Amino acid sequence: MTVSSPKQVVVVLDFGSQYSQLIARRVRENKVYCEILPHNTTADQLVALSPRGIFLSGGPASVYAPGAPMCDPHIFDLDIPILGICYGMQLMARSLGGEVEPVAAREYGLAQLVLKRSDGLFSGISGQRIPVWMSHGDNVSKTPDGFEVTACTDRLPVSAMADRGRRLFGLQFHPEVVHTPAGKDIIANFLFQFCGCSPSWTMESFIQQNVTQIRRKVGDGLVLCAVSGGVDSSVLAALIYKAIGEQLKCVFVDNGLLRKNEVHDVIEIFRNDICIDIHFVDAGHRFLTRLAGVDDPEFKRKIIGNEFINVFQEEAQKLGSVRFLAQGTLYPDVIESGGGPAATIKSHHNVGGLPENMHLELIEPLRDLFKDEVRRLAYELGLPDKVVKRHPFPGPGLAVRLVGDITPERLEILREADAIFIDELRSAGLYDEVWQAFAVLLPTKSVGVMGDERTYEQVITLRAVTGEDAMTADWAQLPYDFLGMVSNRIINEIRGVNRVAYDISSKPPSTIEWE
Ligand code: XMP
Repeated sequence: MTVSSPKQVVVVLDFGSQYSQLIARRVRENKVYCEILPHNTTADQLVALSPRGIFLSGGPASVYAPGAPMCDPHIFDLDIPILGICYGMQLMARSLGGEVEPVAAREYGLAQLVLKRSDGLFSGISGQRIPVWMSHGDNVSKTPDGFEVTACTDRLPVSAMADRGRRLFGLQFHPEVVHTPAGKDIIANFLFQFCGCSPSWTMESFIQQNVTQIRRKVGDGLVLCAVSGGVDSSVLAALIYKAIGEQLKCVFVDNGLLRKNEVHDVIEIFRNDICIDIHFVDAGHRFLTRLAGVDDPEFKRKIIGNEFINVFQEEAQKLGSVRFLAQGTLYPDVIESGGGPAATIKSHHNVGGLPENMHLELIEPLRDLFKDEVRRLAYELGLPDKVVKRHPFPGPGLAVRLVGDITPERLEILREADAIFIDELRSAGLYDEVWQAFAVLLPTKSVGVMGDERTYEQVITLRAVTGEDAMTADWAQLPYDFLGMVSNRIINEIRGVNRVAYDISSKPPSTIEWE
């Protein structure tokens, strides 16, 4: 359980919905701090947190199914406003003496909600019929005592219910998704009319709180922070620097797997834009020596991860009495590593920390934030667009884009191809339109013909994806003439490449990186 700083918190109890994070984000968009907690958080634990309100999320189970996730029934007696969504509403109904039954036909997608009241959660919503997003197999067939039905659809007599006196509400539809346009108002009504929240959680207040907390925790100690020029580590450094100034020691490691001009660019950005001194470590040779002959992706990742730790440890020792290590863990990493059933797809979530023998305490001030909030924080801290809008770049760098062996020659080809692609995206004004774009070098050669001669050379794949986070992504539909021009430049300018392909796979089932 991580609820920490803000005085005013709203909680989402998670019953396994794919939308739980979305509920939290919608609450935070109202400038109210929100955390997601496991569904079995007890009433006593909740009392200790004193949340202003509780959301019960949706979930894939049926409340009657054996092993269905339950909540502590005492949470309904705490006099804390509760809004149950979909499964959450059914659970509320069942826990309080109502009835839930399977519907004849499962319902997914848009439905027309007919409002029976224009006050309460529906205050300020114009029209009596509004579009909402449904996704359920069960429904509440009898409301518990004290509840009234506040909305229905043509197929569903109980689509919303409320016990205004006890401030308990249920919605069968999803107010958190964009397909429920009135959802924002419904959530805001819950927060401001019933939970008594005020919109005070801003990035400015976040900075103030964290600066105070970091100062208190660090005292006069030193903090080591690895920076990469990416938005997360830059925000991390800027925030900690604001708190403790020169007690922050930023280290930028060249692992030999960075992109063309990256070392120079990152050093310049820190010097001129972020205005924090960084200590540069040229460790390329070390990493590349250890990676020689390794082509298994997980093995590459492990070697690089371990070598990073070795480098940090050495740098920490050189600096003297470093006691803390800053890490840019974000909220989705915290939730994902919270013991859920998710399988390890790639070992890049290093939440959970460092080897025991490192004896450094972690500082993770971003662990409560979603990625878009980190970007807003970046602007609040005065970081420039070129940092905030920079595409994410994986820790293991080009190693995971160099399918097969890592050699200096293959790295060089990949660097050049990547630089051409990114330069052209920028020139065409397309760079900010995609979530991430890069080149991949395949471990295979292909036959071609150049100047009447047969060639047998390397293949580059271009990858560009769109999306709002890295959990899901779609391939970017870049214009054909643009792709043609990039392909021509790569084949003409890079010796040893005679073919360029474009990756048209979405995530899932593919991943963004190739390895
Ligand atoms: P995948 O390939 O898993 O990538 O779809 C999702 C996002 O994570 C980035 N990525 C990493 N980031 N260390 C990181 O810091 C890693 O080992 C790593 N692997 C993938 C990837 O670039 C994408 O943005």
